[in-house]
Amino acid sequence: MLRSALLNVMMKAAQKAARVLKRDFGELENLQVSLKGPADFVSAADRRAEKVLKEELMTARPGYSFLGEEGGLTEGSDKSHVWYVDPLDGTTNFLHGIPHFAISIGLARDGALVAGLVYNPITDEMYVAEKGKGAFLNERRIRVSGRQKLTEAVISCGLPHHGRGDLALFRREFSVVQEQVAGIRRFGAAALDLAFIAAGRFDAYWERELSPWDMAAGTLLVREAGGYVTDLDGKDAMFAARNIVAGNETMHSAILRMVQQGA
Ligand code: IPD
Ligand code: CA
Ligand code: CA
Repeated sequence: MLRSALLNVMMKAAQKAARVLKRDFGELENLQVSLKGPADFVSAADRRAEKVLKEELMTARPGYSFLGEEGGLTEGSDKSHVWYVDPLDGTTNFLHGIPHFAISIGLARDGALVAGLVYNPITDEMYVAEKGKGAFLNERRIRVSGRQKLTEAVISCGLPHHGRGDLALFRREFSVVQEQVAGIRRFGAAALDLAFIAAGRFDAYWERELSPWDMAAGTLLVREAGGYVTDLDGKDAMFAARNIVAGNETMHSAILRMVQQGA
C-alpha cells in the first residue's frame, strides 16, 4: 500500500490518540466518568482523545473544519473540507472493559467522503481507505465478503439505547432479519461494524439513530472494499437520515428490503 501524505496525517493522529485511550482503558477504575444522558456515558478519555485528534489534524491541515462528537463543529477557513471524528466509538464497551472500540476519522471534500480511518488500539487493527484507492487493514488490501446465501450470512446491527429510539420498530426489523439469516451480532461500535463489513467478516449491517462521526470513515471503507452503503430509503443520504445499511451488493439489497418490510 502506497501511503499518501493525507493518510500519514490521519494515521499519526490516530496513533497518538490511541495512546491516550490505551492508557485510560488500562486504568478504568480510576477514570472519572460522567453521565451525559440516559445510557450515554462519556469518559474523560473520550475528551482527551478528541483533543489530541483535533490538535493533530488541525495543525496538519489548518484550514479544514472539524466536527467531533465531544466538541462539536470548529469551522475552518477552507469550507470545502470537513473532518468527522469520533474519538471513542464503542464507549459502553470501553467502560465495561470490553476491548472492542475504535477511533474513527472521516474526511469529506465538498460533501463527498474522500478518506477514512478506523483504528482499534487494543487489537492494533488499523483500517484505512482513500477514495478510488481501495481499503486496507494493516497494509493488506481488504474486500467485502462474497457470500450470496442468506442462510450463511452473519449480519450486524445496532440496538436502540436504553430510553432512546424506537424499540418496537427495532424488534419488528430484527424478527424479519433473524428468520432468514445465519446469525445476528450486536458488537457495540458502529465504526467497527462497518470496518468488519469492509474486511468481509460481517455480510451486512444496519442501524438507526447514528451520527455522521459514527458512519463517515466506515462508509468509505465499505465502498472502497467493493461494498454498498445507503440509508434505509436506499439513498446516499445517511448523515441526514441518521441511519445506514451496508454490505456486499447482494446482502445490502436483501437486508434493505427486509428492514423496510419490518418498518
Ligand atoms: C455508539 C456506538 C454504538 C451505536 C451507537 C453509537 P459511541 O457510539 O457506535 O455501536 O449503537 O448508536 O452512538 O457513543 O460509543 O461513540
Ligand atoms: Ca460513536
Ligand atoms: Ca464516541
